[in-house]
Amino acid sequence: MSDTGKLRLGVNIDHVATVRNARGGAYPDPVRAAKLAEEAGADGITAHLREDRRHISDADIDGLMAALKGPLNFEMAATEEMQKIALCHKPHAVCLVPEKREERTTEGGLEVAREENRLAHFIAPLREAGCRVSIFIAADKRQIEAAHRIGAEVIELHTGAYCDAHAEGNFEERDRELAALREMSGFAHSLGLEVHAGHGLTYDTVKPIAAFPEVKELNIGHFLIGESIFRGLGPAIGEMRRLMEEARGDTLRSAG
Ligand code: PXP
Repeated sequence: MSDTGKLRLGVNIDHVATVRNARGGAYPDPVRAAKLAEEAGADGITAHLREDRRHISDADIDGLMAALKGPLNFEMAATEEMQKIALCHKPHAVCLVPEKREERTTEGGLEVAREENRLAHFIAPLREAGCRVSIFIAADKRQIEAAHRIGAEVIELHTGAYCDAHAEGNFEERDRELAALREMSGFAHSLGLEVHAGHGLTYDTVKPIAAFPEVKELNIGHFLIGESIFRGLGPAIGEMRRLMEEARGDTLRSAG
């Protein structure tokens, strides 16, 4: 696939589980949502098994592994417990994320540079098991270089600060964040890393990120699950795809 080829969409179904867990019980079922997302054109499904199991459960991961036709991107903290679970399931990809119990969502990128040695040992068995290892990371050269050195194949750039600045109407800050993301996606690509991006993306913020030629995949969850209340999951995903493809088409036209 060329660098400006099709941009993949990974749909994160964590917040279907959030709604289910608000009442306990079995509904809505995140595995059913994942299957529907695949039918609607998602190229993959992302699920984050948090240490506190606040949304996705161990049984959800079992169900996703059994039911999905396409790849599962399994998000997890770099802990021994999670490593065991990943090695048992051997999902297509493992995305390492930082986790703090008190946070509402994943707030920053993983600190790779300070933990380089531990993380290099941590990811080795995952890679040997055939999982693609991805690191959720800030647009920070030092962290990207460290991710490359430890043997990660993929980095996922954290788009949260860019999206927050947009939502707050702080457009100078938004444009600074966007410029850093653009520069670092080019830098990571030049090292041979595959570049993904995600967190907080909406219909309003997706196009500038989708237009980066080095970005191969976006992972989007909360907004799509929220939007599906109004238009249904399939149409919500369809509109996101349309915007991604529109942005990508603009990139191809300006490149050609
Ligand atoms: N990518 C990663 C690594 C994440 O941790 C999350 C949130 O779980 C997402 C993408 C999706 O973010 P959002 O739900 O805000 O679209």
